[in-house]
Amino acid sequence: MKATATANANIALAKYWGQRDIALTLPANSSISMTLDGLSTKTTVEFSGGLKQDSLKIDGHAASREEIARTSGFLDIVRKMHGTQIFARVESENNFPKSAGLASSASGFAALALAATRALGMELDAIELSKLARRGSGSASRSVFGGFVEWKKGSREDGSDCYATPIAPKEHWPELKMIVAVLTKKEKAVSSEKGMQLTMSTSPLYNAWLGSADSDLEAAREAILEKDFNGLGKTAEMNCLKMHSTMLTTEPHLIYWEPETIGLMKGIMGLREDGVECYFTIDAGPQVKVLCLEKDAKRIVKYLSFLPGVKETRVCGTGEGARIAKQGLF
Ligand code: PMV
Repeated sequence: MKATATANANIALAKYWGQRDIALTLPANSSISMTLDGLSTKTTVEFSGGLKQDSLKIDGHAASREEIARTSGFLDIVRKMHGTQIFARVESENNFPKSAGLASSASGFAALALAATRALGMELDAIELSKLARRGSGSASRSVFGGFVEWKKGSREDGSDCYATPIAPKEHWPELKMIVAVLTKKEKAVSSEKGMQLTMSTSPLYNAWLGSADSDLEAAREAILEKDFNGLGKTAEMNCLKMHSTMLTTEPHLIYWEPETIGLMKGIMGLREDGVECYFTIDAGPQVKVLCLEKDAKRIVKYLSFLPGVKETRVCGTGEGARIAKQGLF
């Protein structure tokens, strides 16, 4: 009745923003991501007949009421699949700051989906696991797999064709790196889920976002398969700015950036003018991730460390998918 799983975060290069079904977490557009080797979440789940409710600890602290409610809601889906009503003790540890735009919900729900189903003796295949992880957080559907991953929006109302699949394994492009620059460890004020609902209902640019999502997806997939670094970088950076344009024009405005975020964006553009190949991408938070090739990573890290507000940098390569861990957290 107990299992532990680890999953890595993923960063989208063609992003997901908006849902066609909120209750089932079905996206309005498909997305492509890179699973990162440096950022992971480990989660232990134990179901036990003696418990009166679910409990949750994250990074050694009792979780907030909202976090417990979200986890319990997810565990209800697992309990329903299994046909049980017993509660669980859950402990989770991230090796990076959570809820600050570093995809902790992706690694978190992918690890929880695997640990919770195994704890109940269920052996889901990767596609079923991806569908389940999606119910916790859309991007978690992609963290089930390693390497480069595509999450198809699907068209069925019940979400049965909405899951992620790998497009290239982690060994495909070892020279490709993503430098994660942490600017603040504060948690974000508006969750991605809430943010995308506001954007869909109020941004005048949202339809334009949807209008170019498919061509960005094709371009990103092709650039990954051909290992076309500049093609991928240009597509990813532009795609990120298109997504943020819809956020900026949401009512009330969703400005996930801090002043230092813009400093880094300009810094990366400046480096590029100096001949260093690098591109930025940013999610629903202030952190900046820089796509580059291994040969330039050291130089870029050094440059970033001189920019105001950069607290930490991590150079990540492509990582593996969700897996069972031997050592539990309790
Ligand atoms: O899965 P969520 O609810 O954390 O949403 C993820 C949204 C973005 O990170 C901004 C984009 C993406 O595709 O990961």
